[in-house]
Amino acid sequence: MSIHIGPVEIKDPVILAPMSGVTDLPFRRCVKQFGAGLLVSEMIASEAMIRSCRRMWKKMSGRFDGDWPMSVQLAGCKAESMAEAAKLNEDQGAAIIDINMGCPAKKVVNGYSGSALMRDLEHAKGLITATVKAVKIPVTLKMRTGWDYDCRNAPELAKIAEGEGIQLVTVHGRTRNQFYKGSSDWAFINEVKKNCNLPLIVNGDIVDGETIDQSLKMSGADGVMIGRGTYGKPWLISQAIHYMKTGEWPADPTLEVQLATIIDHYDDMIEHYGVETAIKMARKHFGWYTKGLPSSAEFRNGINRMTNPDEVKTALYDFYAPLIEQEAA
Ligand SMILES: Cc1cc2nc3c(=O)[nH]c(=O)nc-3n(C[C@H](O)[C@H](O)[C@H](O)COP(=O)(O)O)c2cc1C
Repeated sequence: MSIHIGPVEIKDPVILAPMSGVTDLPFRRCVKQFGAGLLVSEMIASEAMIRSCRRMWKKMSGRFDGDWPMSVQLAGCKAESMAEAAKLNEDQGAAIIDINMGCPAKKVVNGYSGSALMRDLEHAKGLITATVKAVKIPVTLKMRTGWDYDCRNAPELAKIAEGEGIQLVTVHGRTRNQFYKGSSDWAFINEVKKNCNLPLIVNGDIVDGETIDQSLKMSGADGVMIGRGTYGKPWLISQAIHYMKTGEWPADPTLEVQLATIIDHYDDMIEHYGVETAIKMARKHFGWYTKGLPSSAEFRNGINRMTNPDEVKTALYDFYAPLIEQEAA
């Protein structure tokens, strides 16, 4: 089941998607403890990385603390910047460089990065060539199906990428113009499979055993990448791995284990960002962790006003304690 790309073995082909503002180092560590085939950093702008290494290392810092194998995702529109940033990351211990040609955000595509590159395959080719040439580690590519429905050129881009030395392709089955509307077209991703011989990862709307089965069957992909499904469920990647090995979907961890996971994640955020930033960044995670639990809206309103990290922790214990008791009864 494993995928080999150069010297890197992705033992279990279930990959945590890069998500800016979500899959930061504390979240990746949290996911990693449950097991994940590969972790990808949040997108990093290559130009900004070259200008401001220290801040960027904090964002991607992956070599340390056993966060391995670590893929660093770069976005950019200048070949020389992509090459330089790729080399810097290789020197810092990245296992893989991933090129982003899928980001739909206006501020990214207006700089002709992300999915805008799918509108200019010559330019895309130049970026790929420069990045691949700059490093010895494998370079992978993440893309959408195309810019819009009338220009779904992912199969063509994958073929070009293969020719330029890309070693794995991930396709999110939406066009850029869809942003996150509609659904991921796993069947179209099979056109990419037919047009190149690269290992292929299917992405978009994969959240459970059924969507894993369907997406793999329809796309013919070799593995899956999961993003939003992990919101508040860092254990989902390990459940997906177990499912792909056995055909059985394991139960969620008990609420006691979930609480311990949340506390560890929170402590790690505080250590990584410092209290002030961590408290703010943790709020969205707490919202996702507690979604669907009784009185979670009141709990969220309460902690969103708190500024003392110990007070937040106490609120977490107070919220979960009766639920854990109920679960044990
Ligand atoms: C909040 C957020 C941030 C994202 N940031 C990135 C990014 O930095 N790089 C990237 O290639 N894709 C990014 N994506 C896209 C995801 O990697 C993924 O392709 C998309 O969410 C579809 O997968 P999913 O349905 O499993 O979430 C982001 C998505 C979300 C929701």
